[in-house]
Amino acid sequence: MSIRESKNKFLSGNWYPVEETSSDELKISGELPKELTGLFLRNGPNPKEPINHENYHPFFGDGMIHGIRIEDGKALWYKNKFVTSPYGFGPNTHVLKHSGKIYALVEGGVSPVIMDSDMNFLEEEPFPDADSKRFTAHPKIDVDTGEMHAVSYDFEEYVNGQGQVHYVTVDQQGKLIKDKIIETPGKPMVHDCAITENYVLIFDLPVTFNLGRRDDEKNSVGGDYPVIWNDKHTARVGLQNKRTDEITWIEVNPGFLFHVVNSYEDETGQVILDFCRYERLFDFDNPLPMGQKPFLTRWILNPKTKTCSEEMLDDRPMEFSRVHPDYDGKQHRFGYLLNDGRLNNYFKHDFKKGRTITHDFGEARQAAEPVFVPKKNSKSEDDGYVVGFVYDKTTDLSNFVVLDAQNFSDTPLAEVTLPQRVPFGFHGSWINLD
Ligand SMILES: [Fe+2]
Repeated sequence: MSIRESKNKFLSGNWYPVEETSSDELKISGELPKELTGLFLRNGPNPKEPINHENYHPFFGDGMIHGIRIEDGKALWYKNKFVTSPYGFGPNTHVLKHSGKIYALVEGGVSPVIMDSDMNFLEEEPFPDADSKRFTAHPKIDVDTGEMHAVSYDFEEYVNGQGQVHYVTVDQQGKLIKDKIIETPGKPMVHDCAITENYVLIFDLPVTFNLGRRDDEKNSVGGDYPVIWNDKHTARVGLQNKRTDEITWIEVNPGFLFHVVNSYEDETGQVILDFCRYERLFDFDNPLPMGQKPFLTRWILNPKTKTCSEEMLDDRPMEFSRVHPDYDGKQHRFGYLLNDGRLNNYFKHDFKKGRTITHDFGEARQAAEPVFVPKKNSKSEDDGYVVGFVYDKTTDLSNFVVLDAQNFSDTPLAEVTLPQRVPFGFHGSWINLD
């Protein structure tokens, strides 16, 4: 058995970790748009040796960030570095810019780490005056106010019996200005949140923490993550008012989500939520986040009647949903997603026309999360680029790929071949540097 074959799916093939490296000699095919000046960063788990193949779960893998620096049509460098944190665990899930700082992020109440645009990890404290540095992987930025909103849970609080999550707001200077406790007695796993003009959406869904449940269990291969599908847990969404303490809970059809596409309020005050819905996940016999596939779904939440309607929008499995970065909380038309089957397609879903356009990378390639980058003077919501890392099985290398979002199915505008493969991972961002 080669080192990259494992009983553990998350250590097999392109999941297998890589070493740190860097290169400033990168081959470009096609033409990189001259206006793309910045840095593409992608975070993901990359466990350090020695690795326990029986117990390893990617949610606990050491964070590694892969970055490529682009300027004036040139690819200046690529490098990948382990996330180092003065607080211990290196966040492994997301990386984004807010208040002039680049944060590496993870859920579970772990503190973010700040890095600079040369990918140096800094000792600088996030949220210096705040009592707690707990945060999460998927905050949402309201471009109108510059505020960053997040819903986080804290492993330690859950272990101590406190069933609660925190609604945290960070202002545009990077100061933590709100940390409101919301009671969630079932200890739900809360991976993402959503914002609208008036609300932050709290997802209290039936995947709940059962810390210690593995104590009397034989280890399942790669399944050592302490959450479980919980049929007894009432699935509900909280509409937390951003400006007052008021929260309205609405029961929803049981299911789970890792990722929202986006949410917004319509003219009648209903909340529209588009997301990737799992029917069930983390069943006791299947503790890995696999097996069940997610489908693009819309919930319409009515705060007056406290009811929710549901509609499936596409019958192909898709995940890693993204929108234009300035549309968090505003009505979007387009979402960008990854085929969660063979990984060889990006999807662009048009919510207005109810149709999905495909970009096909071919049988030999496996893509990861698509990230939309608007043009500087964009004229419409999809006037921009879709970028991401794509693994090529024939070369065992990855490329940084740039698509024209308006000619989505066409051959990529440019591809930059990296000196090594980028293992499958989680989330990233385009960081403008001009
Ligand atoms: Fe995520």
